[in-house]
Amino acid sequence: MPSTPVLLFFEDEQESAARIAQAAGHQLVRIARHRFPDGEIKLRLPSALPEQVVILRTLNDPNEKLIELLLSAQTARDLGARHLTLVAPYLGYMRQDIAFQPGEAISQRILGRFIAGLFDAVITIDPHLHRTATLQQAVPVANAVALSAALLLSDLIANRRPQALLLGPDEESAQWVAQAATRHGFAHAICRKVRHGDRAVEIALPDVPMAGRQVVLFDDVVSTGHTLAQATRQLLAAGAASVDVAVTHALFIGDAWPMILNAGVREVWSTDCIKHASNAISMSQPIAEALTRITAMTIRPQAQTH
Ligand code: R5P
Repeated sequence: MPSTPVLLFFEDEQESAARIAQAAGHQLVRIARHRFPDGEIKLRLPSALPEQVVILRTLNDPNEKLIELLLSAQTARDLGARHLTLVAPYLGYMRQDIAFQPGEAISQRILGRFIAGLFDAVITIDPHLHRTATLQQAVPVANAVALSAALLLSDLIANRRPQALLLGPDEESAQWVAQAATRHGFAHAICRKVRHGDRAVEIALPDVPMAGRQVVLFDDVVSTGHTLAQATRQLLAAGAASVDVAVTHALFIGDAWPMILNAGVREVWSTDCIKHASNAISMSQPIAEALTRITAMTIRPQAQTH
């Protein structure tokens, strides 16, 4: 029998790692991490690893984590891993997918190739692929799996706000809003957004009556919170009865969380792709199912003995 795959995790992701490992039947092992006074880091993995190894690292606040991936993936190979999967529930650096100004680095392409140089497979949730058709184009690995939280968030909304009007804050959110709306027959619409800077957005509400509606803003990412705060203020001014938020990735930078609550948001429901007080959905089961499919596809037949 092939040995049980190992799921390697970092201390700050212990809870989600345990949920995924239990659902997938993987052995759970923590990567020990030491940070030197000068900022360099040292990692320690188990001294021997099975052929199938998974590394969990969600890539919010990504810069140092990319060095962790470089060190841990190459060490895992040296210690026996033959097939390496990255589970990055949030995949950072996906939004810069073209050079908006001459000379800009196309981060999506560069980071995608970096990850593909280290791993054989990648699993992520609702990656921000605006002008890129598939995850595999962004991260060219043999198995590139993009899961979505849209249906699970839709189920939660059906339970909490069955009459909801789902509203995407910008055109990029249309793909997730459409999936979520179709599942339970929710009314839905999309705003238009113009971004003037990191913390300055202008939103045009769609031509839909808002008076008395229970609106749920539905998006892939909340970062500074300005998109959702601005949309909420305009919706309440237009007569919406309530505004709630359903979002896959709860980045919540700085004061984003109190700011959107002050703008009038009633509740926020996010997934555990990034740990946050608003987490209401766990993605561990779909991630575990994807891991099981990848393992079944890649496991090598045992050598025949006579
Ligand atoms: C952008 O296209 C994303 O879907 C989000 O709408 C955006 O990242 C939110 O950013 P912020 O919270 O900083 O307004």
